[in-house]
Amino acid sequence: MTRASAGALLRWYAREARDLPWRRTRDPYRILVSEVMLQQTQVARVVPRYEAWVARWPTAEALAAAPLGDVLREWVGLGYNRRAVRLHEAARHVAAHGWPAPERLEELPGVGPYTAAAVGSFAFGRQVVALDVNAKRVFARAGALEPPPGQAAAFNQATMELGARVCTARRPRCGECPLSAGCPSRGAVAAPAPRARAARPRFEDTDRYVRGRIVAALAAGEPLPAAIAPERVDRAVAALERDGLVVRNGRMVELPGSSDPGAR
Ligand code: ADE
Repeated sequence: MTRASAGALLRWYAREARDLPWRRTRDPYRILVSEVMLQQTQVARVVPRYEAWVARWPTAEALAAAPLGDVLREWVGLGYNRRAVRLHEAARHVAAHGWPAPERLEELPGVGPYTAAAVGSFAFGRQVVALDVNAKRVFARAGALEPPPGQAAAFNQATMELGARVCTARRPRCGECPLSAGCPSRGAVAAPAPRARAARPRFEDTDRYVRGRIVAALAAGEPLPAAIAPERVDRAVAALERDGLVVRNGRMVELPGSSDPGAR
């Protein structure tokens, strides 16, 4: 990507950016919360959950002091409960030791290269490119990347925004794209991958679905789902126990650090 097109991208973003709550802060804790939530959930669904989360636990120290059971309950519906466990562990690390140096954020539990680059640029002003799935697609189509000096945060937000709203996977809106003049992929339509889709099991048939249902039931103080075959429930409970997401209390299972057990 040339300097001119990086400029065009930044001007487009200045005009078009959605006003999202994590774009109004440079607090690394809030940015980390948003990025972990955004890893698996769409922006529109994350916004109210993010607002509720930071209202309940405004700082890493506040989150660190919360029982894991409360954290898992607040996470219900956001998917991949292990991400909540890692986020809680990261908050405990920060509460105990402070934030790692901006170039060493991957020392935090659950923080991989993408999240480290996102928090590094948005909160600490690091001059690094954050490659989420949308940004990767933009660069694969439009060509190589270079944030202008001192503008990595806006550049990263802009690239994600473009990938989410214009340079979309299936039907890119090349007519609205600030990069289209120099884009070698302009007008190209992505090849469909119908076989890969057909091969994927229904979500309701996966172990992840059962695990999610169990954590949601325990969080709501309801019995474990009766409609799911008992051996699937047993297998999921065993996996959740191994991962520290539930604990056994006699014949009951419950969320860790919680006082309202779910019936077994
Ligand atoms: N997806 C991942 N990070 C994002 C961000 N900061 N804004 C919007 N969508 C995102």
